[in-house]
Amino acid sequence: ANETVTPSLVPPPGTSKHTPHSIIIGVRKGGTRALLEMLDIHPEVAAAATEVHFFDWDENYAKGLEWYRELMPYSYPHQITIEKTPGYFTSPLAPARIRAMNSSIRLLLILRDPAERVISDYTQVYFNRLENHKPVQAIENMLVRNGGLNTRYKAIQRSLYDVHIRNWLLHFSLDQIHIVDGDTLIHDPLPELQKVERFLELPPRIIASNFYFNQTKGFYCIRSDGRERCLHESKGRPHPPVNSTVLQQLRSYFRQHNRNFFRLVGRTFNWH
Ligand code: A3P
Repeated sequence: ANETVTPSLVPPPGTSKHTPHSIIIGVRKGGTRALLEMLDIHPEVAAAATEVHFFDWDENYAKGLEWYRELMPYSYPHQITIEKTPGYFTSPLAPARIRAMNSSIRLLLILRDPAERVISDYTQVYFNRLENHKPVQAIENMLVRNGGLNTRYKAIQRSLYDVHIRNWLLHFSLDQIHIVDGDTLIHDPLPELQKVERFLELPPRIIASNFYFNQTKGFYCIRSDGRERCLHESKGRPHPPVNSTVLQQLRSYFRQHNRNFFRLVGRTFNWH
């Protein structure tokens, strides 16, 4: 929770830094920031302020575990440390590296409808490029190539949840990976947060009054420690319309992958 998030030169007495007890591994655009901020309401959670990219970027991994630990927030002995880096889920090397650090770690994975995630991913890249004065493409130009679905498009590849989870299941047992339903988190955050509290064996502290719906933003915002805050304006952006034929192609491309994923994790999701 907030008391330990603010970086300061003088550590609060009785605190220290620890490698994470739990990591939000992705998926990019799944709602990872919302999940971390909402978990940070909990008094026994110390959340890392930024995305660390330790296990997915070789140049960071080469700096070693001590470098990683230094980036963690100060926490009290009764708190657990959590970091989130959405790139881990699709990184081929992250699972083995995380296992080498802590084979009994608890992983959090937040997923949403894979087609919706592609559009959200496109939207993020579109705005990043605009800000950096780089040329942008219409979404159909990214999704379609030679009259068919452009399955090599990175945003589509990142939504192949079955492909990526297989890699994690080589290194972790399924009961170490808790999947948060990102679509549900948007519409009704509390039950999803309560499931995470149970998974992390935290006492139940997050309550209904920690959330309020902000009509202007169109999303839930957080009320905690006497303060109200919404996520950054880059979270919850309107998506561009997608041609219905292309959208159908995209959804049917994911259908078998989704079925594979449901089988692998022993659970279904309400995706198109
Ligand atoms: P969109 O901006 O496409 O709607 P991430 O933090 O992993 O990048 O995920 C961003 C997504 O979190 C947003 O995608 C949004 O749908 C979702 N989200 C979930 N709960 C939210 C909340 N309370 N406020 C804003 N965005 C939220």
